[in-house]
Amino acid sequence: MRTGLRGRDMITTQEWTKGEIDSVLEVALDLKRRRALGQPHALLDDKVLAMLFFFSSTRTRASFEAGMAQLGGHAQFIEAKTTQIAHGDTAKEIGEILGRYNDGIAIRQVDWGVGNQYMRDVAEASRVPVLNMQCDRFHPFQALADLLTIVEEKGDPRGLTIDVSYAYAASYQKPMSVPISLILLLTRYGANVRLTRPPEFRLLPEYVEQAAANAAAAGGSFEVLEDFDAGFRGADVVYPKSWGCMLETEDLAASAEISKRYTDWIADERRMAMAADGAIYMHCLPADRGIEVADAVIDGPQSVVYDEAENRLHVQKAVMALTM
Ligand code: CP
Repeated sequence: MRTGLRGRDMITTQEWTKGEIDSVLEVALDLKRRRALGQPHALLDDKVLAMLFFFSSTRTRASFEAGMAQLGGHAQFIEAKTTQIAHGDTAKEIGEILGRYNDGIAIRQVDWGVGNQYMRDVAEASRVPVLNMQCDRFHPFQALADLLTIVEEKGDPRGLTIDVSYAYAASYQKPMSVPISLILLLTRYGANVRLTRPPEFRLLPEYVEQAAANAAAAGGSFEVLEDFDAGFRGADVVYPKSWGCMLETEDLAASAEISKRYTDWIADERRMAMAADGAIYMHCLPADRGIEVADAVIDGPQSVVYDEAENRLHVQKAVMALTM
């Protein structure tokens, strides 16, 4: 169990050691057990978390707010568009000021080329930890929840074949932060990780290289595939989800047009049948039903999407309890 995490930012799991991440999982499971047993665990009595949103959310907002209440503290919801941030409050001012009112600052800012730098700038000015509720590059709490779910469902990830794949969606051009965070984290746990995506849907190359280095260091493997079906074949875990092709074009309408070349990239029952016996289907949600995934898959016996969503609560409480 690693201690001494008080004051640490969680912007990407790659900046935490594996021992520290193991400690998060250990504390998350303990808090999950305590909640299931109805045992109070007011570890953050009187503490306050600022939750600053530049983009919409269901799970992230609800789970951070519920988590702070269960830990005995309070979470304040702040929207960029309804505050003076929209009129020019700078990242430095936000870090300085919200850091004086609060014991942690959680931020969602997913604008391409902006979000991660904004978080770093707030963290630089803040006296309290900054927690990344999703930026343009990383979604660390989603990846932590997914890792916990895989451990619960399949045991030690070492040797598991995990397919992190693009799938088509029509609703909006989603950030590439989930697949980046997954390939970075799962390769550190010795899994055989596949990144499956069309050629236009590359992820930022520095993180693809880092994932390959992580896999080499952990004794697993990392490969990039361009065939949707091949990604499913023999996989123990499949995680097909959409993202925008931001390395091809930063224009969201143009990205949406390119994505229409891949409307057949849908997680359906035929593809699930190609996966290993007992394979699980994962998605961070929200998903485009009938487009990104068939109802029979997301509502089927192999789907663990609600466990993933629940585990957001437990891993976030663990990181908050350890850092705030
Ligand atoms: N998975 C996830 O982050 O969900 P929200 O966008 O609803 O927060």
